[in-house]
Amino acid sequence: MKLRRVLLAGWCLILAGLSGCGGDKNSSTPVPAIFGTLDDGRSAMLYTLRNKNELETIITNFGGRVVSMHVPDRKGMLDDIVLGYDSLQQYETDRSYFGALVGRYGNRIGKAMFTLDGSVVTLAANDGANHLHGGLKGFDKVLWTVDEAASVPGRSLALTYQSPDGEEGYPGTISVRVVYTLNEENELVIEYDAQSDKPTVVNLTHHSYFNLAGVGVRDVLDHELMIAADRFTPVDEGLIPTGELRSVEGTPMDFSLPARIGARIGLEDEQIRFGGGYDHNWVLNGGSDSLRVVASLFEPTTGRMMEVLTTEPGLQFYSGNFLDGTTRGKSGRQYHFRTGLCLETQHFPDSPNKSHFPSTVLRPGERYHTTTAYRFTVR
Ligand code: GLA
Repeated sequence: MKLRRVLLAGWCLILAGLSGCGGDKNSSTPVPAIFGTLDDGRSAMLYTLRNKNELETIITNFGGRVVSMHVPDRKGMLDDIVLGYDSLQQYETDRSYFGALVGRYGNRIGKAMFTLDGSVVTLAANDGANHLHGGLKGFDKVLWTVDEAASVPGRSLALTYQSPDGEEGYPGTISVRVVYTLNEENELVIEYDAQSDKPTVVNLTHHSYFNLAGVGVRDVLDHELMIAADRFTPVDEGLIPTGELRSVEGTPMDFSLPARIGARIGLEDEQIRFGGGYDHNWVLNGGSDSLRVVASLFEPTTGRMMEVLTTEPGLQFYSGNFLDGTTRGKSGRQYHFRTGLCLETQHFPDSPNKSHFPSTVLRPGERYHTTTAYRFTVR
């Protein structure tokens, strides 16, 4: 696998002159590798997390992106199950948010503006007239600082980023901390923290594109999905919620019992048409704050299963409708229509303009704290 070779080459570079090449899977603690150099001369690094069950993820501090995630199938065969690229340069120009930490605001804010404490806040418009995923240069495109003291090599990676007052139009300097942990329960846990010196809004999420059959094998339409939600937030043509919380019952949005993604994606339905497939936010049952299983994804040929746990009130299920084969990813593979899907835990889109949605306002002295985990099993 080309990416593996690139990574191993990086390892060897770092270890040259120390103890030789450390790419052996059975060797002890993984060592960070240089992924590439940004225009300003700073290096982006690759960090490997691995557990005793041989699950392995590689994360770069550029955009806090999950570059690869190897998990076993029901026969114990490891495969990479997330879409991405081989090089840093491809991540720098990426428009799909592969594997990214998304902020300050995951998802859309209508007309790229909102009112906070009586003042109008104008954001960068990067999705027609709307604001999407933090703007022109969101958290997916910045180099995060690695907090080495708070990271456990091979097991967890603590990333920090200080977003300056006014960045992409948002008020307040915010200090963000995200910790990725790969634990022995086969969970990739993501803990998000933020604090602000002025009232602002924050809604952080993670944007891996999963394909549990393995990257580049087939589309995701045969995956079976369950979302523990009785309602969703219908959208207008620009994918901005109308404000309604609509029952999923009798609609293609009903995933309260596991259903094949392809079963209803082609139905004539206004919401499916607006999304070009699934690109909607579900109102998760059980409110927010308690970490609970909110979704499960099963791929029948490999038996791989992924559960999503979160403290968040919402989940965006995006079925990769904008992938069209023009993006070349790992090993030069084309990423065709719907060959990856995202399950983005979050507060609802456009919450800053919807006072009846759970609030995304963060005030000085408050702590933003959410947790999401992707748990891997087989069936
Ligand atoms: C999100 C959005 C989609 C699309 C992707 C990135 O999931 O909801 O509409 O913008 O990100 O391509």
